[in-house]
Amino acid sequence: MEDNDPVMAGTADVCTLSEAPLRVLIYLSTTGAQENAQADTALALAHEVQAGNRRKGLTGLLLGNGSSYMQVLEGSPEAVGQMFATVSRDPRHRALDVVLDQPATERTFPGTAMLGLDLDASPLDRRAAIEALIPAGADRDVREKLLAFSVFD
Ligand SMILES: Cc1cc2nc3c(=O)[nH]c(=O)nc-3n(C[C@H](O)[C@H](O)[C@H](O)COP(=O)(O)O)c2cc1C
Repeated sequence: MEDNDPVMAGTADVCTLSEAPLRVLIYLSTTGAQENAQADTALALAHEVQAGNRRKGLTGLLLGNGSSYMQVLEGSPEAVGQMFATVSRDPRHRALDVVLDQPATERTFPGTAMLGLDLDASPLDRRAAIEALIPAGADRDVREKLLAFSVFD
């Protein structure tokens, strides 16, 4: 195809806009904070990172229980990959496990550059709190991984 082909001219831009591939990555991080120091709250961390995430087109959720975090990162495949690489190097993690990494057609948390929630001690309360954050039409895998965090120590 010639660059100046009248039929194909501008097609690349249109495709970029309409296809917009998305990636969702969820990881579980244990901090070892109970043995060492107090972990940063999910709320404080989320506040810190919102402006930068917004610039990168990243959205998601950060759950914390005092010694572990579960984070949902969603955005372009490149932005999610780069952010996960950055986060992986953060010395605040002791162990980091990816529990979900897949293409997505829609964001689960489109309105939040990072929503932070610190969970109470009771697993039942935790489950209810997480349920309340997950939109009705959310991807089943995303829902399942997030709810599993309610019984994680
Ligand atoms: C659980 C957890 C989640 C994080 N999530 C993000 C995030 O969504 N976006 C972000 O920019 N930094 C996030 N960070 C912070 C990064 O790991 C890193 O500290 C920050 O990007 C600053 O990096 P820099 O000093 O290289 O600029 C997170 C850190 C932790 C411990």
